[in-house]
Amino acid sequence: MEAMGSVNNASFKVLADTVASQIDVHIPYGGVFPALAKREHLKNLPIVLEKTLRKARLDKKAKPVDVIAVTYGPGLEPALWTGIVFAKELAEKWQIPLIPVNHMEGHLLSVFGKNVGVFKIPKVTMPALALLVSGGHTEIVLIKRWMDYKIIGQTLDDAVGEAFDKVARMLGLPYPGGPEISKLADQARKSPPRPSGTPPSQRGEKISLPRPMLHSKNFDFSYSGLKTAVLYLIRDLGGLEKLSQKTKMQIALEFENAAIECLIHKTKKVIEKYEIKTIIVGGGVSANKYLRTEMKKLAGRAKGRASKNIKPLFPTKELSTDNSLMIGIAGYLNYQKNNKKVPKPSSIKAAGNLKL
Ligand code: KG4
Ligand code: ZN
Repeated sequence: MEAMGSVNNASFKVLADTVASQIDVHIPYGGVFPALAKREHLKNLPIVLEKTLRKARLDKKAKPVDVIAVTYGPGLEPALWTGIVFAKELAEKWQIPLIPVNHMEGHLLSVFGKNVGVFKIPKVTMPALALLVSGGHTEIVLIKRWMDYKIIGQTLDDAVGEAFDKVARMLGLPYPGGPEISKLADQARKSPPRPSGTPPSQRGEKISLPRPMLHSKNFDFSYSGLKTAVLYLIRDLGGLEKLSQKTKMQIALEFENAAIECLIHKTKKVIEKYEIKTIIVGGGVSANKYLRTEMKKLAGRAKGRASKNIKPLFPTKELSTDNSLMIGIAGYLNYQKNNKKVPKPSSIKAAGNLKL
């Protein structure tokens, strides 16, 4: 990626973009298996580097880039370390600065990116809120000034993406579960209701799941109770083998409705309290179609009131789930913000629980 301009006026040109997915390796485990993640990173990093430099027509022997950005947290530390060590070696070999990046800031800034061509960071109307929803995080960030973040709400237990993955597993769907649940829920939303004369046994079960903390006074979330409610529901229905496709669809629908309703409701409360002008939605779950639809509706309703003019921003599909481009954007902006000062590479360490 080529980048230029200041923190408030940066523009980027993508020279090449590569994503190495590990999903196939983790499918048999129904989730990310840490030791395997590390092994796969070790194997894939040199391959991805070669491929990307070749696509970008850069010579790896000469100094091909001026700076490197690397994510140091939050996340699985063994996997983070693999990236950090690899980036340190390159920074040393090419004698260039190394910029440590917070993975969640990458997700937040991903809404401004494109994975091909040229893009600019637009002026964002403040205050903004960022709803960051991934496999490990569910948080609402208040942004009153550009690149100044305050977490005002978060999950007290499981992340929403994790709940999608676990419920998918309970329904016998493959990892990652988010897109699978979403597909089933969509089918259920589109299927016509049964005529009223249908015998109860053929109408399908009436599924109802809780919306944990929906009416709590804060902006926090909880997803472990919702996940457990699905577990008990499936048990009460006689176990996974007893579920018809129709019932699975209805569970997926009700789960997605419940999970997304909590996100939308807390976002609405934050919009009202802080008179939010821009909504940013980032992280893997931001790929969810129903979340996007409901968030646009929410923004539209708020827009209709008084003088508010709210804009919801989402990443492109490619930049919704983990990618290095968002780390590049966040790296460059932080480099500019810190007047090109970077920490000593030896001081950069993996931080599994790093906060924004
Ligand atoms: O940001 P991400 O790629 O990795 C983390 O940083 O965790 O997020 C991955 C998460 C997984 O839990 C996955 O199931 C979820 O994002 N996800 C979705 C969708 N696509 C990915 N969840 C709901 N609906 C989707 N369409
Ligand atoms: Zn992520």
